[in-house]
Amino acid sequence: MGDMMHKKQIIIAMTGASGATYGLHLMQKLAAQGVFLHVLLSDAARIVLKQECDLDLPESQSETAKALAAYLDCDEVLLKCYAKHDWFSPAASGSSGIGQMVVVPCSMGTLAGIANGISDQLIERAADVMIKERKQLILVPRETPLSAIHLEHMLKLSRLGVDIMPAMPGFYHQPTCIDDLVDFMISRILDHLHVENTEAERWGA
Ligand SMILES: Cc1cc2nc3c(=O)[nH]c(=O)nc-3n(C[C@H](O)[C@H](O)[C@H](O)COP(=O)(O)O)c2cc1C
Repeated sequence: MGDMMHKKQIIIAMTGASGATYGLHLMQKLAAQGVFLHVLLSDAARIVLKQECDLDLPESQSETAKALAAYLDCDEVLLKCYAKHDWFSPAASGSSGIGQMVVVPCSMGTLAGIANGISDQLIERAADVMIKERKQLILVPRETPLSAIHLEHMLKLSRLGVDIMPAMPGFYHQPTCIDDLVDFMISRILDHLHVENTEAERWGA
C-alpha cells in the first residue's frame, strides 16, 4: 500500500456495453507506464469479456486480478480488483484522493445510474464520488442508435464536467485493422488522462 501511494492511480471500470477490448487496451497502456489500476468490473462486463475477448474471469477478485495481469502481460502489483459492493475500497470514498476514473466501455444502464446518482454498486458510487469531488470522470459510452434518454443523461453529465468520449473512432488516419481503430480511441482517452502516448498518428504531424 505504501508503495502504491507514490504511483499515479486511476480507477478503470468496465461495464456490459460492447467494446470490452477498449477497456483491456487502456489498462494495458496505463500499466505499461506504471500507473496503478483500481479495477471495477460489473457482472455484465464479465459476460461481455467472455463473449468478445474469450476472457473467462474467475469469481474471486484476487484471482481476477491475476488473470487480468496475465492477459494484459503486466505486473500483478499494478492492479487490484474490487467486488461490486466493496464499500471499503478506495474508489468508494472521496478521502482516498484518487483523481481520475474511466468507465470503458460504459453501458446505457451504468450511464443512467451515474446520471441519476444511484450508488448501489461500486462503479456508480465511485463515479458519484468523482463528480462530487470535482475530479476527472471519463465515460466511453457505446450504443446505437442513442435514444433521448441516453442523450439526456450524457448532456446532464457533460454539464457537470464529465468527459463524454463515445466509442467512435475516426477514419482519417486510414486504419487497416481493428487494432488501429482501438488505438485511435485509446490514444484520445490517454490524452485526456494526461498520459503520454504515441499509439495513434496525430493530425498535422
Ligand atoms: C454481448 C453483449 C453486448 C452488449 N452491448 C451493449 C452495448 O453496446 N450497450 C449497452 O448499453 N448495453 C449493452 N449490453 C447490455 C448490457 O450488458 C446490460 O444492459 C447490462 O444490464 C448492463 O449492466 P452494467 O451497466 O451493470 O454493466 C450488451 C450485453 C451483451 C451480453
